[in-house]
Amino acid sequence: MVGGAPLRLREKSRLREYSAPRFYEIAFDLNRKGEVDFLVHCFKRFSRRRVRRVVDIACGTGPHLMRLADRGYLMSGLDLSPRNIQFLRERFAAKGYQGELVVGDMTDFRLAQPVDAAICMQDSQGHLLRTEQLVAHLRAVAKCLKRGGLYVFDRYMASSWTNPARRWTWSKRRGRLIVRASFSALNDVDPVSQVFRERMTLEAIENGTRRLYRQTHLSRMVFPQELKTVVELAGGFEFVQWFFGFKPHQILETSRHPIIMVVVLRKK
Ligand SMILES: C[S@@+](CC[C@H](N)C(=O)[O-])C[C@H]1O[C@@H](n2cnc3c(N)ncnc32)[C@H](O)[C@@H]1O
Repeated sequence: MVGGAPLRLREKSRLREYSAPRFYEIAFDLNRKGEVDFLVHCFKRFSRRRVRRVVDIACGTGPHLMRLADRGYLMSGLDLSPRNIQFLRERFAAKGYQGELVVGDMTDFRLAQPVDAAICMQDSQGHLLRTEQLVAHLRAVAKCLKRGGLYVFDRYMASSWTNPARRWTWSKRRGRLIVRASFSALNDVDPVSQVFRERMTLEAIENGTRRLYRQTHLSRMVFPQELKTVVELAGGFEFVQWFFGFKPHQILETSRHPIIMVVVLRKK
């Protein structure tokens, strides 16, 4: 049967992505508190309405979502990975929190209730490999936001054409579990499509048992001016500010070699 099979294969491989939520959660618990402090700063500084209700788009295992809920925000979350959402539902229920946690695609979703702010962290928008998908995503986010509310997200950027790839390795321990992680982004950048490869390895050692989890997937970077144009094309948002990290004074234009941009948009 020509036509259907490749799509089914692609869907299957997407479902295998992010399928080690417990190890991912521990490994990437790096600067979560600083990131959440920055998000709260943005909500207070840039929103034209009091931020109470927030959606975390591509929320993963919920590192930002849970911390914002702990600070009193009414959280909902959306992610394509059923395993991540199941993992997060259990964490959420254990704390007695209530909110909409749904498996869904960030290019086409609706929420039961509109929100005052939306976030999309750790370059999750990179999973959108075509401009049309990014436009559809921005339109879906605009629809779920109240007027004057914010959309805050971060994106990787290539800071050099000759050697854009970046690789990090580190270990984290939680109780008897040790997770050794390695992550690399901006591998094999195709300068035309702006698509690159990300690789992640998590090695978990617990009670003498070793488990290895490997994931590689495609991601796409956008350039800052391109992003502004795409936001205009999508409509519904005004550009507020961008940063080269999670510090309020780090305005993007003042950085020589940013590898990340954090963007704040406001719903018109
Ligand atoms: C890099 S992880 C980030 C997760 C989380 N935001 C964090 O900071 O740890 C990317 C997440 O995007 C999700 N994702 C990928 N494509 C998606 C899509 N089209 N719609 C919704 N979520 C998607 C993945 O399942 C994964 O949980």
